[in-house]
Amino acid sequence: MCGIVGITGVEGAAGAVYKRLKLLEYRGYDSAGIASLSDGGFSLCKRRGRVYSLGGDIKHLHGKTAIGHTRWATHGKPSDENAHPHIFGKFAVVHNGIIENYAHLKDKYFSGVEFNSETDSEVAVRLLQHFYDGDILSAVKKTVKLLVGSFALVIMCSDFDGIIVAKNKNPAIIGYGVGANYCASDAPALAGLCSEITVLSDGDIAVLTSDEVTIYDGDLKRVVREKIKNPALASELDLNGCPHYMLKEIREVPQSVTKTCDAYVCTSDKLRKYLKGIERIIITGCGTAYNSGLIGKRYFESFAGIPVEVETAGEFRYKQPIITDKTAVIAISQSGETADTVEAAKLVKNLGGKVIAVTNSPYSELTRIADAVVPVEAGQEICVAATKSYTGQIAALYLLALTVAGKDVADGAKKLYSVSELTKNLIEHTDIGSLADMCARSDGVYFLGRDLDYAVATEGSLKLKEISYIPSEGYPAGELKHGTLALIDIRTTSVVIITDKSLAPKSENAVEQILSRRGKVAVITNLKDVAEELKEKALILEIPECDKYLSPILSAVIVQLLAYKTSLLLCRDPDKPRNLAKSVTVE
Ligand code: F6R
Repeated sequence: MCGIVGITGVEGAAGAVYKRLKLLEYRGYDSAGIASLSDGGFSLCKRRGRVYSLGGDIKHLHGKTAIGHTRWATHGKPSDENAHPHIFGKFAVVHNGIIENYAHLKDKYFSGVEFNSETDSEVAVRLLQHFYDGDILSAVKKTVKLLVGSFALVIMCSDFDGIIVAKNKNPAIIGYGVGANYCASDAPALAGLCSEITVLSDGDIAVLTSDEVTIYDGDLKRVVREKIKNPALASELDLNGCPHYMLKEIREVPQSVTKTCDAYVCTSDKLRKYLKGIERIIITGCGTAYNSGLIGKRYFESFAGIPVEVETAGEFRYKQPIITDKTAVIAISQSGETADTVEAAKLVKNLGGKVIAVTNSPYSELTRIADAVVPVEAGQEICVAATKSYTGQIAALYLLALTVAGKDVADGAKKLYSVSELTKNLIEHTDIGSLADMCARSDGVYFLGRDLDYAVATEGSLKLKEISYIPSEGYPAGELKHGTLALIDIRTTSVVIITDKSLAPKSENAVEQILSRRGKVAVITNLKDVAEELKEKALILEIPECDKYLSPILSAVIVQLLAYKTSLLLCRDPDKPRNLAKSVTVE
């Protein structure tokens, strides 16, 4: 959360930072700011609002070195004062993360001093100035040693034409240019600009000038960090004629499935080795990643007969999990940076367990911790709401479960390819307008299903509430009568997913119970007789028949399209829902 960028060695650096910050807005977008350094002094432009609100004003920021920030508020409301950069004395700072002991540091070092903002971050810039005696690196070292919590800090000092980056728990990368060097939170910010990057490790302090990058550890000993190819491609950041990233990314669901299959085949032997003899699996993740874990559970239990627990990472990490050498923990995360998931994985490693990461981010914190990685090849996901990464995760879990069960992975991949083709058609030809209209006019929307359909219902509900702000819940259809039915009236819509023939009559009961209470109903189904039976009573959305275990991929794109369209009808911004950000790197 929060996107940070630093550039040194580029004429008009502030303009370049502005352009790059826009590519990081998915990390936060409630306020933004840029500071530049020229002739030994800072110029600053920051305010509440999105990066574009800085607009014309940044033309007054001169110099070849600049830093910028796009914020997701943690401490202090979104406001001009709380926007970064924070400047004090000879230092300017942007910060991603949370300084947990900021109140204590403020009391200890600055008792009685009035700060300019309500942020935790301001204490960092004050400490830098406090410790500065002409030696910048020593001031940085002393400052970061005092900070408890998570941070990626990008620092300018007016005595030095360059940038300093300090990292602990929050992501920071360095990008290499010609006569210029760069830093950012994430690779997409440097797509098309730097072909090589370095992912900094916790404790690193990097010093960037226009022609050199030097990396130190926390004690200022020089360290060598690997340069890797920048995985983010500029072409992936293009909207390709779509009005929003969300629609573009839903359209990329088919290829996220096939590319994940292709990548999986190359890693399956290694994974088989890691999972040999496993008797229990715990799946953990947050939000959409957790929801894909619910589907994964069914795969491992049905194909391999291995018991699986699924826990949200934020809960799991604060329990005392029982981990033996026969337990595998599968940590699912699109970004590989989600704080709760990363900490859950660290906990498992500390307990001597095995961690398998299922992630779309090959160079993330999670991949460094994990014993083995199952790649999700969804490509860059920019929309805050996860779409193609969810279906990529389902594909990866399906193949992993086949591997654990000793079943034919090639046959599984074939089935996934054919579902991918069906998905293409479905996305192109589904008319979601009437159902979206029903939802947009509703006070509440309930997603119901049984077994795998229930798992998709949880995701449908998350997606809808996230980008339309309509109250919504996902329930097992059988639970309806145990409480939720009290909420049903003429102002509610229930979306019932029915793809399993053996369970269809039970879910149809739920439909009847809702109709009897005058609730509106839509049914997503691949069963002709269900569609026929209910067509006079409910709005029917038919999806094609496919392998029963893979129907979640098809129903997923329907609920994703539904959320997208409903969000548009309510004039929301589907790519940047209120209060949210992608990559939740704080607790
Ligand atoms: C919902 C959504 C979030 C993420 C969650 C975990 O659309 O995107 O619920 O799924 O924050 O993120 P990752 O997968 O990056 O760990």
